[in-house]
Amino acid sequence: MTMPGNGFDGTGFEDGESAVAASLVAGDVDIEASLRPTSLDDFIGQPRVREQLQLVLTGAKLRGGTPDHILLSGPPGLGKTSMAMIVATELGSSLRLTSGPALERAGDLAAMLSNLVEGDVLFIDEIHRIARPAEEMLYLAMEDFRVDVVVGKGPGATSIPLEVAPFTLVGATTRSGALTGPLRDRFGFTAHMDFYDPPELQRILMRSAGILGVQLGGDAGAEIARRSRGTPRIANRLLRRVRDFAEVRADGVITREIADAALAVYDVDQLGLDRLDRAVLSALIRSFGGGPVGVSTLAVAVGEEPSTVEEVCEPFLVRAGMIARTPRGRVATAAAWQQLGLTPPPDAAAGGIEVRVNEPPQGLLD
Ligand SMILES: Nc1ncnc2c1ncn2[C@@H]1O[C@H](COP(=O)(O)OP(=O)(O)O)[C@@H](O)[C@H]1O
Ligand SMILES: [Mg+2]
Repeated sequence: MTMPGNGFDGTGFEDGESAVAASLVAGDVDIEASLRPTSLDDFIGQPRVREQLQLVLTGAKLRGGTPDHILLSGPPGLGKTSMAMIVATELGSSLRLTSGPALERAGDLAAMLSNLVEGDVLFIDEIHRIARPAEEMLYLAMEDFRVDVVVGKGPGATSIPLEVAPFTLVGATTRSGALTGPLRDRFGFTAHMDFYDPPELQRILMRSAGILGVQLGGDAGAEIARRSRGTPRIANRLLRRVRDFAEVRADGVITREIADAALAVYDVDQLGLDRLDRAVLSALIRSFGGGPVGVSTLAVAVGEEPSTVEEVCEPFLVRAGMIARTPRGRVATAAAWQQLGLTPPPDAAAGGIEVRVNEPPQGLLD
């Protein structure tokens, strides 16, 4: 039922986990598509990214060329795929879709590249998971719009140069720190998508309610927004779960009372923390005395992939002021102790500190 590479997204909604998990559940894919924003103007939030992208795209259109390659980074569910589709739409180009894990052999990529038509947008999702040989082929394609296809093996192998039509690569990654330097350097524009504020999520919810034909009261929307983990995908999923509740147990209208009651049934807490968030906080505090502890050790403690803890869970807990990243590891803030109903030690870190590591600079790279 779940998409590959997703370690914790359950399939039932009864325990609330999957209601808040940021990854895709198969049955939700179609609805997600209907809720995607389709133009830059339709895209709510991320004002800086939108403004920068508008300039990049409009500049290219004025010159009649293809824009620089674009890298979109940020946690799951924040709109990277939607933005890639918007780039193609705004350029009036077609979008070719693939993903890092699908490009296992350089030949797979060569086939993809040789089919491109001038001006196409090639979207590579999870680009940090691309295999080395394909990555090296991509360097040349991005820089010189050509690839060298190696034919044969051993001493008799020859390499045939192949032209590639000028295209724009849009890469998406949940882990920009995992990209190699040479790959990162070939993107002319990097946008980091950040978690959304509750008012932005509320606007997204109102828009989605309109599309789905759901009656959503303003204060109910605000409450769902507050508990959506800063993530549009989760906001939209909670909206659908609350709609179920409203239709089954009431007259279908989502009032604040209905929203509260529904969210309680789905076990979504006041901050929107999900099961894994809570497990990580609990391990950090109960097993490691509040840290500092390395992220992989924390992942083992909660029985989860380090990448999931690092890419999905930790960014939100840092943003929520529950975890601080320090050079010696992750530490629980006073707010995290209080969240678990415990008294923080006198030396607990204050909330809201973010020490960014492994983050590339934002915006224009060169
Ligand atoms: N800015 C936005 N405005 C409205 N809806 C959004 C926005 N960003 C994301 N969404 C919704 O969230 C869902 C997930 O977005 P997606 O682009 O697939 O995220 P990502 O690729 O970063 O995981 C989309 O289907 C869309 O419904
Ligand atoms: Mg995506």
